[in-house]
Amino acid sequence: MFHLKEETNDDVWEVENLYDLCFAPGRELLSSYRLREGIARVAGLSLLARDDDRILAGAVRYWPVLVAGLPVLLLGPVAVHPTRQGEGIGGFLVRESMGVATAAGWERVLLVGDAPYYARFGFAKLEGVEMPPPTNPDRVLGHELVPGAWAGVVGPVTRYEAGMSA
Ligand SMILES: CC(C)(COP(=O)(O)OP(=O)(O)OC[C@H]1O[C@@H](n2cnc3c(N)ncnc32)[C@H](O)[C@@H]1OP(=O)(O)O)[C@@H](O)C(=O)NCCC(=O)NCCS
Repeated sequence: MFHLKEETNDDVWEVENLYDLCFAPGRELLSSYRLREGIARVAGLSLLARDDDRILAGAVRYWPVLVAGLPVLLLGPVAVHPTRQGEGIGGFLVRESMGVATAAGWERVLLVGDAPYYARFGFAKLEGVEMPPPTNPDRVLGHELVPGAWAGVVGPVTRYEAGMSA
């Protein structure tokens, strides 16, 4: 049994440790981190899954970014502890958090990841949406929380400007 809760400041280093375990060293050198630096995570969407003993099993975070001046959710990182992978926790975190995002009025989600995994949630390659280099364009995936929300939305992904709201 897993319990979802929103990540708080008390959870931050536990989540960082999980990401360090699950990703290759140097993860923070990835271009997506440049879009996150100095910008707060999206409140309400960064979720943790803990087991009955409160052990951290998985985590997902979101940041706001802009494409063509429109607000976009950047999903990630998402990770599940190696001993708990394949139990559906990753899918649970992605689906639940996107449900919260839809209820909160967000319209479109972006991530850099493996299409064969994220296709099950409705993600597909985005044409014309450019992450800062170096990013493999085949890994730039989008999902519409509102039908048509990605239609005609193209251009570079840029940092969210302070004060903008979704
Ligand atoms: C990717 C990750 C979050 C998935 O979490 P999870 O809880 O194991 O996933 P789920 O149990 O919901 O789904 C498991 C399914 O996804 C598949 N899957 C997992 N990672 C995959 C990948 N990179 N590409 C394709 N399929 C993948 C599994 O083969 C399994 O398939 P099945 O349902 O046909 O058996 C987890 O494996 C992880 O933390 N990996 C290391 C960090 C990482 O790569 N994060 C994603 C960055 S893009």
